[in-house]
Amino acid sequence: MPELAYVNGRIVPIEDAVVPVEDRGYQFGDAVYEVIASYGGKMFCFEEHFTRLDRSMKELFFPIVHIDQIKRAAIELFTKADIERAAVYIQISRGVSPRNHSFPGDIPVQVVMTVRKIAGKNPPIQELGISAITVEDFRWGRCDIKTVQLLPNVLAKQKALDAGCYDAIFVAKDGIVREGSSSNLFILSEGTLITHPLTPDILPGITRSLVLDICQEKEYPVRERFFDKSKLYDAVEVFLTGTITEVLPVIRIDGRPVGNGKAGPAASALQESLLKRLKS
Ligand code: PDD
Repeated sequence: MPELAYVNGRIVPIEDAVVPVEDRGYQFGDAVYEVIASYGGKMFCFEEHFTRLDRSMKELFFPIVHIDQIKRAAIELFTKADIERAAVYIQISRGVSPRNHSFPGDIPVQVVMTVRKIAGKNPPIQELGISAITVEDFRWGRCDIKTVQLLPNVLAKQKALDAGCYDAIFVAKDGIVREGSSSNLFILSEGTLITHPLTPDILPGITRSLVLDICQEKEYPVRERFFDKSKLYDAVEVFLTGTITEVLPVIRIDGRPVGNGKAGPAASALQESLLKRLKS
């Protein structure tokens, strides 16, 4: 069960994989990515991730990419690695070319993938919940495109860790709550689950959409609408959603307890339903 990498058609052990220094992803952040999780040896929401990857490339005017070839390569790499519980990382850059801001001419994109084991979390944060801080959202205006330009996310996460917390929640200058540093966010307020609507200010999370779907199926009241930081502080429950994150309760924000300060029943019911889908 080796952890493997794929670089433009070659499969190698991760530690041997290298990319050229003039990869535009490396020099300009001119690259898009996806993270797919596997459960029981099956990649979950494979098609949905590739649809979003394709959209990200189109939004950034990448040259035409044969997405089916990349899908086949991902399956081959995943099968070779043979890891039941894995994170499959896929990154496509606009290519390798002498450094120049303008788009290079007719050159192929660079496709890089890795397959790594996902370690179980200890303590079990899904059950216990986590604490978070809020940080100002100073990201660019197209957070709906999954690009590798993640410096604000990296700084936010580290700020949270330095404050003894697990994660950070982005809040816009006008007080609107956006999402987590690598996850979407829901609150339970007055009996309704609320999450930020799909706009260019957040990533259209695949787990977010699954959770919305589960809510509909179970007839839980749910709304996609804006809410501010005071509503976040007053929420009965808060949870993050994401591919590796799944449904993760937030029990403290900026030092204040959320609801009764314990992981709540809505998050736990949604996590259970999500796990059922993941494993079906
Ligand atoms: N992050 N919002 C942001 C900013 C994210 O980076 C992610 C995922 C999500 C959740 O999306 P999804 O449910 O499709 O995973 C929301 C990935 C996992 C990462 O960067 O590692």
